[in-house]
Amino acid sequence: MERYDLALIGFGGVNRGLAELIVQRGDDLAHEMGFALRVVAITDLRAGSLVDNNGIDLVPLLATEPHAMSFAGLTGGSADPRNEWVIRHVPSDIVAEATYTNPIDGEPAVSHVRWALESGKHVCTTNKGPVALAGQELKALAAEHGVSFEFEGSVVSGTPILRTAQRLFGGLQIEGVQGILNGTSNYILGRLADGLDLQAATAEAQERGYAEADPTADLEGHDVQLKVMILASEVLGAELSREDVSCEGISALTSTEVQDAASKGLHWKLVGSAKRRADGTVDARVAPQALPAHHPLAGIPGAMNAVAFDTDILGTVTVSGPGAGRLETAYALLSDIIAIHERHHASGSGAPAHRVLQEALRD
Ligand code: HSE
Repeated sequence: MERYDLALIGFGGVNRGLAELIVQRGDDLAHEMGFALRVVAITDLRAGSLVDNNGIDLVPLLATEPHAMSFAGLTGGSADPRNEWVIRHVPSDIVAEATYTNPIDGEPAVSHVRWALESGKHVCTTNKGPVALAGQELKALAAEHGVSFEFEGSVVSGTPILRTAQRLFGGLQIEGVQGILNGTSNYILGRLADGLDLQAATAEAQERGYAEADPTADLEGHDVQLKVMILASEVLGAELSREDVSCEGISALTSTEVQDAASKGLHWKLVGSAKRRADGTVDARVAPQALPAHHPLAGIPGAMNAVAFDTDILGTVTVSGPGAGRLETAYALLSDIIAIHERHHASGSGAPAHRVLQEALRD
């Protein structure tokens, strides 16, 4: 049976969630998909704990090779040279990158992904930065090394937005895309409609784990701006810079405004959109909008996300689902791993060349 060795870079909620999914679903995956997963390295083992949030013991998941545990205790959040060593030199097939990353320059995730691809390893990441800010470079690097760079979780967590666009819309023209791409701001707008003020609603969103540690990017639309850049590239083939996407967040809205609108049947939503203009250029923006009840995004509740694709034949097709959450985001990594397996299995190349070589030398 095909086996993929994983290096987990960052071991916060998302990669812990991936480990938990592998423990829970590993046998099913082996049975249904014909491959096995094994973790050979973890960086950023906070407090050395290998018991997941749900109390699941992750130790049996680890390979017993000496290098598997020897880098425990790395701290995340910076392009640490020890992370570089693990990514480049611990033999692995797939690097699952889920570190805490700066939304301004996408680091350290951009460096992590670059190091992995340069080393001939497949990569899956849930970070937006590498895709939105360095996507062209990293895709070219992946192609050069014959490996995959997957990032379903960078937009709307495990809800399959990017794969829906790529796989299901062949033969259709997608003219534009608009979405509720930030759960925190959607939750906050819902609570403003209930009469809470912005501060109290934001505190609730943080308590519920939707908001980033610093919720500025959620409130001011910067998180959505990066997601719009990714959607514009993946869905419309338009490579945009941050400056190409005008950005206004929700922090100027008051509870009174949101409640007044609701009494007229209007729902304030933070909408990210990218639409092709007649001249072929793309109009991309992030802005709060008071949507009428019949709009496909108007009824998306709580911290849910949704993306509406405007197509030439089907009209508007809307996909909605969770846009954040530990296991929900971890599932995006699992779906990326399945995509890596399918692509490389179908092409007959299987594990990356470096693994084939190592195994040949071992034999
Ligand atoms: N803080 C983000 C949100 C998480 O609220 O949607 C996912 O990027």
